Order: sequence, then C-alpha cells, then structure tokens
Amino acid sequence: MESLISLVNKLQRACTALGDHGEDSALPTLWDALPSIAVVGGQSSGKSSVLESVVGKDFLPRGSGIVTRRPLVLQLHRLDEGREYAEFMHLPRKRFTDFAAVRKEIQDETDRETGRSKAISPVPIHLSVYSPHVVNLTLIDLPGLTKVAVEGQPESIVQDIENMVRAYIEKPNCVILAVSPANQDLATSDAIKISREVDPKGERTIGVLTKIDLMDKGTDAVDILEGKAYKLQFPWIGVVNRSQADINKSVDMVAARRKEKEYFATSPEYKHLAHRMGSEHLGKVLSKHLEQVIKSRIPGIQSLISKTLNELETELNRLGKPIASDAGGKLYTIMEICRIFDGIYKEHLDGIRPGGEKI
Ligand code: GDP
Ligand code: NA
Ligand code: MG
Repeated sequence: MESLISLVNKLQRACTALGDHGEDSALPTLWDALPSIAVVGGQSSGKSSVLESVVGKDFLPRGSGIVTRRPLVLQLHRLDEGREYAEFMHLPRKRFTDFAAVRKEIQDETDRETGRSKAISPVPIHLSVYSPHVVNLTLIDLPGLTKVAVEGQPESIVQDIENMVRAYIEKPNCVILAVSPANQDLATSDAIKISREVDPKGERTIGVLTKIDLMDKGTDAVDILEGKAYKLQFPWIGVVNRSQADINKSVDMVAARRKEKEYFATSPEYKHLAHRMGSEHLGKVLSKHLEQVIKSRIPGIQSLISKTLNELETELNRLGKPIASDAGGKLYTIMEICRIFDGIYKEHLDGIRPGGEKI
C-alpha cells in the first residue's frame, strides 16, 4: 500500500500537469487544498542547506546572493531498497543518478525560464527524489526574502519575492518551515516576520534555527530553542549545517550529520535538548506532521476530488472517445489517482487504521 504522502504527491503532480486546464475547473482549488511544506527565510539564512540535510544529498544550487530564483517543489519518495535517483517533471523518462547533474539541471531550467539574468519566476520546477534514505515528504524551496535589489535586478524584486512567498504560505494547508539564522537577532528574522503575518498563533509554523555554531562566544540559543524567546506551537528545532568551508572541502552529508549530532550531544548548553535537535530529527518531524495534516484534511480533499472527478468525466465525454490527445491522457491519469484516493478514503472511513507510515 502506498503512503498517504506519496498519494498526495501524485495528486499534486497531476494537478500541475493539468494546470492549464481552465480557470473555472476545481483543479486549482484541489491543488490549493493539498497540504505542503514551504521553506521560507532571508537570503543565505540556510534554507537550501536545511533541505539538503533533510534529503541527505548535495543537489541544490547554493552560494551567496539570490540563487533560488524559482520555487522548487521537491517530492521525496521512500524506496524499500535499490539505488537512489532523481527525476524532473519537465524531463519525464530521464533518471538522474548523478546529483551534481541534478544541481546543473535546476540551474539550467531556472535560466531557461528567467533568462540568464537575476530575475525570478513564480513557475515552479518539480523534482522527485527516490531513495531508501529519505522519508516521504513534499517540500517547496522558495527564493530568499531580501531587503534590497542588487545590480541588474528591477527595484520591484524585493516585493515580488515577498508576494511569491506569501502566495504559498497564506494557504491554510501550508506548513511553514521558517528558517532563521542564530547569528542574527531573531527580532530581525524575515522568516518570523512573514510567518507571523499569515499564521499569527504559530499553529502551522515550524521554527528552524540554523548557524548555531556561528554564534558569538558567550551567547547561546537556549532561550529560543526552549520556546521562551518566541513561542510557536511546535518545538523549535536547531540545526548545524555545513559551513562554506566544509562545502569547499567537500565534507559529505554523512560526515556532516555525524558532526551535527556530536555538536548537540556534547555542548553543555544543548545536551538536554539533543534528542530533538538536528536535521535527521527535523526530517522525521516533518514527515509525521505532514501525514497528520493530510489525514485531518481527508474529508475536504475527498469532496474536492469528487467534484474534480465529475468535472473530468464531463470533460472526457465532451472530448468524445477514444481520446488521442495529450490532454485526454492526463485527464485519465488524474482520474485514476483520484479513484485510488477515493478507495483509501473509504478504507479510512471503514476504520482500517491508517497508523504508521503506510496505510
Ligand atoms: P539560503 O540562501 O537560505 O538557501 O542559504 P544556503 O543554504 O545557501 O546557506 C548560505 C551559506 O551559509 C552557505 O555558505 C552555507 O554553507 C552557510 N550555512 C548554512 N547553514 C549553516 C550552519 O548551520 N552553520 C554554518 N557554519 N554555516 C551554515
Ligand atoms: Na543563498
Ligand atoms: Mg537557497
């Protein structure tokens, strides 16, 4: 049986593939209703590093300045065994086993949409990673919030990025992964500022504190990590990602995670919090939480699916059978997925316990 998260992954991809299907259809509403996790924060706060740590792979373009210029919808699929690989939605049938090539393709695909300028585009790139080492999860990497336009960028870029980020995180089904660097005052955190606007009670914001290793000597992040400095419903999670020097020295992810674990376990300030710190813990928390959100939204998603199914059936009838067109094929795909979801929903109602990762 498939996990709930991977089914929602499929629905998300199908909705996207049919994105140009018409404004009045229920599909855009269905997409909006599907739970997701978006990563927000200021430029260079460590967003891409956090994502890479959760995946346990080097594959994102990284560096100073604005690197992420299009949303990246990253779907992680857990394999029971076998070799890990990645696939882009815009390159179906091409399997990437070299993750350096994945990074290059993200860069190239960004440039294809925006030109080689530093412009941004709201058109997402969809990437799936299949691996025995990941948890089932969908994460959206967004361009970093910034305060000033740099050389070659229009003045409007500051506002454009903010609007793009807000469009994702204001959806009530979006879990906000708010990334703040520990070596800057939390009161100036872009992540906290924008998440507080759309989620004032902190009910769907998970606070992640990066760069704890870079704090000034004599200061620590205990107040933040214990939820005393800024209260969220979820416990704060501290991480230590690879530094730029680590990256330059090609310190691999396994070594980096080991170092991170050691850091929390052996620091006198953080020892008592070590069990709920670090990237591995973060990945597990996110997967578990996303699954819970999906479960709680099943009835709503279900009714939208019924509506979508009806619409799609009408559309198929209108097109007339047999359908040779591309659109027809895509419609069949989404209907198929909707039916699977439908079946799961009924099992759920019949009281078949959807406990654990799989149902
Ligand atoms: P993004 O712009 O928010 O995606 O930030 P990046 O992930 O690209 O990180 C920006 C820089 O900060 C890179 O040079 C990272 O190596 C560095 N960095 C990120 N997190 C940490 C951390 O926890 N500790 C240290 N020492 N450096 C970090
Ligand atoms: Na950056
Ligand atoms: Mg980035």
